[in-house]
Amino acid sequence: MAATLPSVCPRAAVATIVVYHHQYDCVHFGCLEKRFRFDRVPPALDAVVIGSGVGGLTAAALLSKAGKRVVVLEQHDQAGGCTHTFQNKGFEFDVGIHYLGQLHENSLLRVALDQITEGQLQFTRLEQHFDSLLLGQPDQRREYHIHAGKTEMAASLKNQFPGEEKAIDEFMRLMKLAARQTPIIAILKILPYWLVNFLVRTGLLNRISSVFHLAATNHSEIMSRLTQNKDLQALSAYLFYGVPPKESSFLINALLLHHYKRGAYYPRGGSSEFAFHIIPVIQQAGGAVLVRAPVQRILLNQQGKVFGVTVLKGQEEIEVHAPVVISNAGIFNTFQKFLPPHIQDKSEIQSLLGMVRHGMGSFLVFVGLDGSKEELGIVSTNFWMYKDNDLDSLMERYSSLSREQVLGNIPMMFITFPSAKDPTANIRHPGKSCMTLLTMARYEWFKEWEETKLGKRGQDYLDLKNSMAQELLDWALKIFPQLRDKVVMVDAATPLTNCHYLGAPRGEMYGAEHNLERFTPETVARTRPQTPIDGLYLTGQDVFCNGMAGALHGGLLCASAVLNQILYIDLLALKNHLKHKSTYHKLSW
Ligand SMILES: Cc1cc2nc3c(=O)[nH]c(=O)nc-3n(C[C@H](O)[C@H](O)[C@H](O)COP(=O)(O)OP(=O)(O)OC[C@H]3O[C@@H](n4cnc5c(N)ncnc54)[C@H](O)[C@@H]3O)c2cc1C
Ligand SMILES: *[C@@H]1O[C@H](CO)[C@@H](O)[C@H](O)[C@H]1NC(C)=O
Repeated sequence: MAATLPSVCPRAAVATIVVYHHQYDCVHFGCLEKRFRFDRVPPALDAVVIGSGVGGLTAAALLSKAGKRVVVLEQHDQAGGCTHTFQNKGFEFDVGIHYLGQLHENSLLRVALDQITEGQLQFTRLEQHFDSLLLGQPDQRREYHIHAGKTEMAASLKNQFPGEEKAIDEFMRLMKLAARQTPIIAILKILPYWLVNFLVRTGLLNRISSVFHLAATNHSEIMSRLTQNKDLQALSAYLFYGVPPKESSFLINALLLHHYKRGAYYPRGGSSEFAFHIIPVIQQAGGAVLVRAPVQRILLNQQGKVFGVTVLKGQEEIEVHAPVVISNAGIFNTFQKFLPPHIQDKSEIQSLLGMVRHGMGSFLVFVGLDGSKEELGIVSTNFWMYKDNDLDSLMERYSSLSREQVLGNIPMMFITFPSAKDPTANIRHPGKSCMTLLTMARYEWFKEWEETKLGKRGQDYLDLKNSMAQELLDWALKIFPQLRDKVVMVDAATPLTNCHYLGAPRGEMYGAEHNLERFTPETVARTRPQTPIDGLYLTGQDVFCNGMAGALHGGLLCASAVLNQILYIDLLALKNHLKHKSTYHKLSW
């Protein structure tokens, strides 16, 4: 591919599109559900993308903006990956977008999203008090509030933890440092390996920035130096993702909380708006996004270079050819499922796979409630609950439980009310509200049923699933007793549900595990879009980190690698341009 193509076009971001259209107005457009058929695959493709999550769609849209023709192939019957939504008994639920951060005006993330959606995506802010943390057993429960705001976050914590001002200031300082210098870590994915190795071996890396130290130090270690207050230690790592603080990188926990420092947001119209607004950008360049297109294999020629993929349609494998293949299906699917065994065995691939582990699965309960937000007295604030403030031992104990021990012993849960975060929910589903409960779950607890099909997994599976759901629901109703008589629908999702709908090989919630090893310089450098296979690239959450923002950065790094042009430079230039423009407007007023 040519290296000099125009990448991002500043005009597109500035142009405020006149008419906003929302997916809920035009479900019949069917752009999220265009089925795979060979005659729908555009001719003379520049690239094939496997998977339509934010990572896949971002890479595809950026390539499209550079004039490339791309087809995105999605195994599910709806595009969007973790951002897809589903309906049940007239209730609509999002799957993997509860809230987002760093979307204030002219943030890098906002500018990037405006680029790939032509400015169509809108967000609504949650309450300033966006999260509550509930610690301890019911009879001795402590509740802490997390407030967004440049200075408010620290100030409100100091109010709630008198005597801990110094620890809080230091924590906020490290958090800021982590956020500011993370781009330096991302550069490890761009520099040649020999240079990274040289910087690591000579110890120069740690002299360049202390962010590498924050990345490679476990969270509990840093926090135990700052404070002995167990509740404050727990609060510093309350956004769970399956790794106990002592095995996780301080950097990633700090980044997660920092993500919401300037405000928490929800996509107006629900999370399916992401795919809905990105897809037209891909189509405009002659590309397409096709669903029910499970990719089976990546095709390699005699020289070991990629030339396409195969898609299973009925009993038949259909070939789709392109010189570039981008995988959004995660490291494990890409190397262990799509490549032939003799290629998988290559030492470069084996050593890469040896650096990552499967992440933990999730367990979700979707609850339909009769009544509007006002009638039910629910708000956009989210709730994180732990039965104990020692998150290390709590999580370690939980994840080492056997299947027989799980019931009665779920120690942590997240509660959110999707409909309370979206101002259009009331118009789209009047008189209805929804609540989602989430906890982590091990694949092993459900492994016995891995060969069974969705909806036909048998009574034992249903019993376990329903009992876990009931346990979480009972816990949630203790916090919100007013909802007890309003529950009209309950559905649940296990790690096997993630396998089915998200193509997550072991029901992972966030792809590869976000453990300490993942943020060592060696692993950071090796998990980059380029792979040992000529023409094969990775995008999405396995490239840098989880979350919508993480997956989008994966897409940016990936498109940069494919185009051989660092799109961050274009994006930063655009961001500065917009910033000056808005200052100028303010001045001229
Ligand atoms: C329950 C839950 C809650 C979350 N909450 C938040 C949140 O509040 N805020 C936030 O920022 N992030 C949240 N996340 C994380 C966030 O949604 C993800 O990190 C991010 O969307 C991942 O994007 P991705 O593109 O990397 O992968 P995915 O969205 O998983 O996309 C991968 C796609 O590849 C497809 N695929 C797999 N195999 C094949 C195949 N063989 N052929 C074709 N297609 C295939 C899958 O079907 C899927 O569509 C949450 C995730 C979960 C699961
Ligand atoms: C965390 O770091 C401390 C100090 O280096 C160390 O003693 C401890 O073993 C580490 N924990 C884990 C699980 O690596």
